[in-house]
Amino acid sequence: MAKEKTAFRCRECGATAPRWEGRCHSCGDWNTLVEEARRATTRPQHQPAERPVLVADVPLTSGMHRPTHIDELDRVLGGGLVPGSVTLLGGEPGIGKSTLLLQTLTSLARSGARCLLVCGEESAAQVRMRAERLHAIVPNLWLVADPEVQGVVAHVQELEPDVLAVDSVQTLSDVDLPAAPGSVTQVTECANRLVRLAKERAIATVLVGHVTKEGTLAGPRVLEHAVDTVLSFDGDRHHALRLLRAMKHRFGATGEIGLFEMGETGLSTVTDPAALLLADRQRGVPGCVVTPVLEGARALLVEIQGLVSTIDAEAKVMAVRSAQGLDPKRLSVLLAVLEARAKINLYGAHVYASAVGGVRVSEPAIDLPIALALVSTHHKRPVPDDLVVCGEVGLAGEVRQVPQIGRRLQEAARLGFKRALVPASTPDTVGGFELLRVHTIGEAISVTGLAQAAPK
Ligand code: TYD
Ligand code: MG
Repeated sequence: MAKEKTAFRCRECGATAPRWEGRCHSCGDWNTLVEEARRATTRPQHQPAERPVLVADVPLTSGMHRPTHIDELDRVLGGGLVPGSVTLLGGEPGIGKSTLLLQTLTSLARSGARCLLVCGEESAAQVRMRAERLHAIVPNLWLVADPEVQGVVAHVQELEPDVLAVDSVQTLSDVDLPAAPGSVTQVTECANRLVRLAKERAIATVLVGHVTKEGTLAGPRVLEHAVDTVLSFDGDRHHALRLLRAMKHRFGATGEIGLFEMGETGLSTVTDPAALLLADRQRGVPGCVVTPVLEGARALLVEIQGLVSTIDAEAKVMAVRSAQGLDPKRLSVLLAVLEARAKINLYGAHVYASAVGGVRVSEPAIDLPIALALVSTHHKRPVPDDLVVCGEVGLAGEVRQVPQIGRRLQEAARLGFKRALVPASTPDTVGGFELLRVHTIGEAISVTGLAQAAPK
């Protein structure tokens, strides 16, 4: 008989500990250890499951991608889903994972693949309603609302689908395990069972996994090791743009990103992100700067906005520092650099900075655009319309190189920009494009005509 034992397991990284600890010894997160019963198994006599094969005799998986015919998804997957592979689709609740999944299955079903969707979060009737909205009523797509992994295995044996999707893996449970559904043990065990099933039957499998900020459910971090591909679906729920990235991919590169727009009838692929990101741009307004950012292998033009409002000396209020879509720590550093290196002191003001359009930008190349947006609003002078800006700003006020500047400038040129404010070391890469090379933040401020406040 198997013996019940108690162990503690980290909700975030899955590491185990013999007793409760406030902090996980492996990932260092606080308060993530939860008690879980586990079964001590007696080790069966070892029978190797596989025999070694010569590398040359291993069948090739390249060229086996089954296209989903959703261009942006195929781009990220390097051609499509590979039979026998397991893909984890992670993202915050409400971002559009179920929508993307249903659209993908519909498209695959239309091209002849037998698809089974296990819906744990919604009833089959709810999925049907969504399918109506997405015009996704197709033959070859089966639904089942079964929360048990044993049930899923049985359905797969009966239906023999080419593609299996589970929404979400956190709702699945193994009835033979004492742990609660959604716990790390359950999620990991169920995922492992489905990975084995995918390999045994060459089923392309997609698992949806929620990532919550609090990490109360087992986050995909635990599953990342078990699956072949990890996709992250990301964006701002209040905006239409969604970005799909491959964080791990055993069947292709991870650099590509896919762009989608959430609309009335689901997700559509975005071929020209500038139309979405720069559509409402106001020209000639102080505080607005356009910058080419890199998302994977793609350059996107993003507008950075700044707003500075002076605090009345009488009013005893804390200065607000607000960063939307940007790193608040970078904003604080830039305020210090502006004060120390360019003699522009914004400590007596509320400072707001944002990346427009629901994108989140974390690369250092947006330091200079943020700094210039703030100086521009502070001095009430606009940055020229036809200018894009990029550069990292160091603590000494120096403007530093950014990777892949050529790709960024090409995208700016394509969208009609004529000039770029760039780090001094930037080579001439794009013809017909004027480069304003600067060494320091002070130089950048004077070259763009922002050094003096506009007359009242
Ligand atoms: P959903 O795919 O359910 O997100 P997730 O599975 O990641 O939790 O979609 C979430 C949001 O998308 C929902 O709030 C409504 C919106 N939505 C649309 O705007 N248009 C659509 O056609 C659909 C299906 C959803
Ligand atoms: Mg969902």
